[in-house]
Amino acid sequence: MKRITTVVGARPQFIKYSLLGRCLRQSGFEPILVHTGQHYDPMLSQIFFSELNIPEPDVNLGIGSDTPSRQIGRMMMALEEEFATRRPDGVLVFGDTNSTLAAALTAIKANLPLIHVEAGVRGHNRALPEEHNRRLTDHLADLLVCHHESAAELLRNEKVSGQIAVLGDIMRETVAHFLPQALERCTLMDELELDGEGFGLLTIHRPTNADDPAALVEILNGVNGLEMPVVFPIHPRTRKQFVNLEGDWPNVRIIDPLSYLDMLAVLSQARLIVTDSGGLQKESLFVGTPCVTLRGETEWIETTEAAGLNLLTGDRPTAETIRNAASTILRRFDRDWKNAPPEKLDQFIEQYFGPVNVSSRIARALDDFL
Ligand code: UD1
Repeated sequence: MKRITTVVGARPQFIKYSLLGRCLRQSGFEPILVHTGQHYDPMLSQIFFSELNIPEPDVNLGIGSDTPSRQIGRMMMALEEEFATRRPDGVLVFGDTNSTLAAALTAIKANLPLIHVEAGVRGHNRALPEEHNRRLTDHLADLLVCHHESAAELLRNEKVSGQIAVLGDIMRETVAHFLPQALERCTLMDELELDGEGFGLLTIHRPTNADDPAALVEILNGVNGLEMPVVFPIHPRTRKQFVNLEGDWPNVRIIDPLSYLDMLAVLSQARLIVTDSGGLQKESLFVGTPCVTLRGETEWIETTEAAGLNLLTGDRPTAETIRNAASTILRRFDRDWKNAPPEKLDQFIEQYFGPVNVSSRIARALDDFL
């Protein structure tokens, strides 16, 4: 039985593992799950394990927050020991977090085959930690799993040395799998008294927005003027800054971070999302909600260029830029998507993010590869 160690550490990675972990087990692998401890608040970590029925990690390295280099270095030291103890046949990582890069570097140094899921994604902004992490991980990986042929082409142009496989987008599968139960059980809209008139959803966690009080105030002023209530599940990083802010935002409802199912339900019912997250841009497309992205670039150009459901504000947007972007994307949504048959969105997603059985395709690719 081949042993696959998956290393996760941040919220989106627990979600991405939920179906793949099950599928690996069913496909005859021995899955080992290592949690670096990068996210440790219960609402950023434990809630995902219990809600999505993910088995407890085999080990939690408990690394927690630190400067990037210290965090990655400490993760590497702990991972080296973990890999030496259990000697996996392959190490699998997702996306672009510090946990991803730490595991990738350690796997290579231990001569273990490295599999990178969500390979070939670029924001082309070298200042962002996620860009360092994903680029380096792609160049270390032995098997690179891409969501679309465009990602594979990018990797070939960058001359990566690993084997490339276009298998589809793992988050698309997760949304398709969990959305029906999310809608069935979510009571949050009632609790927050968000009726049918339409509400917005705001998330902020990137250092450029979350760590800068002036930038945060502009964002809050912007969404407060959207003429709809805006729900704001707040990341701990952002909450820390919040105590220093001065202002009044009566339309903004601050709540704790949401579980995955609650997030899917709220996102799919929202009239608009305003976010600086990478993953939520994609998820908003999958549920057909228009998106304003508080950044200068996106890794997911399919959402902006091809679908036209996502609009970038540029870096450090002013309140006015945010309001203008919101009215533009809402107008565009009403014109192009609101009355379109549901098949139009399904076909689009299928074309750019592949079929829904991505986990089993990854399991099969791993079987061939190892
Ligand atoms: C990380 C990822 C980002 C991903 C996001 C999902 C990196 C570089 N960034 O960003 O790509 O989209 O997770 O949420 O890996 N903190 C807490 N409690 C926690 C975790 C973090 O209070 O459980 C605070 C810490 O003070 C820390 C700050 O948040 O300094 C940032 O945490 P970190 O994990 O470095 O980055 P995220 O902003 O969560």
